[in-house]
Amino acid sequence: MESTNYYIPSVSAVLSSITCLFLFFIVKKRRIPPFVLSRWNELEEKCSNLILSNKDIKRVSTILLKEIEIGLCKETNKIADIKCYPTYVRNLPNGKEKGKFLALDLGGTNFRVLLIQLGEATPEKEFASREFPLPDLIRNSSGEVLFDHIAECLALFVKEFKVDKEILPLGFTFSFPCRQEGLTKAKLVQWTKGFTCSGVVGHDVADLLQKAIHKRDDVNIKIMAVLNDTTGTLMSSAYKQPDCKIGLIIGTGTNACYVEKVENMELWDGESDNSNQCIVNTEWGAFGDSGSLEFIRTNFDRALDSTTPNCGKQLYEKMISGKYLGEIVRRVLVYLAKEGLIFNNSSYVRLLEADTFKTKLLSEIEEKPENDLSDCKRILEELGITNFSQEDCAKVRYVCQLVSKRAAFMVAAGVATLINKINEKHTVVAVDGTLYRKHPHFRHLMAQKIKQLIRPGLTFELMLSEDGSGRGAALVAAVADRMDREETNRN
Ligand code: GLC
Repeated sequence: MESTNYYIPSVSAVLSSITCLFLFFIVKKRRIPPFVLSRWNELEEKCSNLILSNKDIKRVSTILLKEIEIGLCKETNKIADIKCYPTYVRNLPNGKEKGKFLALDLGGTNFRVLLIQLGEATPEKEFASREFPLPDLIRNSSGEVLFDHIAECLALFVKEFKVDKEILPLGFTFSFPCRQEGLTKAKLVQWTKGFTCSGVVGHDVADLLQKAIHKRDDVNIKIMAVLNDTTGTLMSSAYKQPDCKIGLIIGTGTNACYVEKVENMELWDGESDNSNQCIVNTEWGAFGDSGSLEFIRTNFDRALDSTTPNCGKQLYEKMISGKYLGEIVRRVLVYLAKEGLIFNNSSYVRLLEADTFKTKLLSEIEEKPENDLSDCKRILEELGITNFSQEDCAKVRYVCQLVSKRAAFMVAAGVATLINKINEKHTVVAVDGTLYRKHPHFRHLMAQKIKQLIRPGLTFELMLSEDGSGRGAALVAAVADRMDREETNRN
């Protein structure tokens, strides 16, 4: 009789097969490479407060709506976090705008000057643009130094493009919270995004710019409008897409504006015309400043906030925007390293320095497919981190993903709140900002979450408005110029 050899597994073989199966399922579920498993649970546990549940996000949306309502109401506006400033931008271009228009875009790490031409043959044509760096030294000096520098760059620009002999209408995008008292009068309420120039808060920024220009004899401009970057973004998209009702920026800072009915806008003191609508600059970056986001803020957020010049302010913005995300990741990594969960055999001295991990690194690290950690490896090398493992790379990537995802979901809560508030069948959201443009997944994460949060039956579209804030300013200047000319012709 033929004998059959049966394999009788030993206890240890059974145990190791079970462990392998178990690991296989964990790895599969988390879609992470198998070498990453050591102390993964502990790491996850330490980072778990960076994960927002659907319940958290819905709660953010509910509170945000309440805060907007407090902001819109005259009686409660004083105590509101989200100030909902009325802008005086109401009229869209109608195609009759003609000529050359300048735009000045100030609000991030650089500032830009733009020249556009409008006319029948060319509906909109940008024919010159220059970006000028704005060093830290200037951002933290005095208003006089800042505006003198801007005037100087403007002078260089008009000379270079040979428009120095013309008096050009100018739209000034000044992307900080301002109380507008008219289209050309905007008083700075407070600095954000790391700017601290003295002598500007409480002053009309159009006036400061005009004074700096008057000191020189090589620039001739007429300031036609001061606006926020969100308004510029909305305007430049609404020019092409009339359904566009929200302007959103996710860049160095974050903010949104939207089209509101004048009847809901108790703070509106401009004239009422047929449109009965006005654009509200929410300044939602300040959401949470009186404590409403404490249920999701982490110690990483608090520690970061305490090092900023506007400590305790712009708390929503500090969880979302490009000025802060890299620094949050850096703080999480340093914490994990100190807990012995990452970089165990490495030196990571440079990472101990604030602001060494820039937000653009999140985009670069998250760009490649999950199993390709080559960019992460290169970045860690560039940061001077030595002797790190593949596993460390995967952990860095995981932290970046958590921080980006949290930011995208926080913005989604804001956008969904506005879409629900506007309550129109279809809403187009014009979006701009470096983080939104450069991050490989931000847009998708946001869109997915917005879909879950908006009322059934409503639809939306995220429309990229590249350089909307600059072009928008020139368009608003062009409309104001046309209306001025029409007024003169009537009289
Ligand atoms: C900050 C500013 C705001 C601007 C936003 C985006 O939040 O306060 O005015 O719109 O950054 O640049």
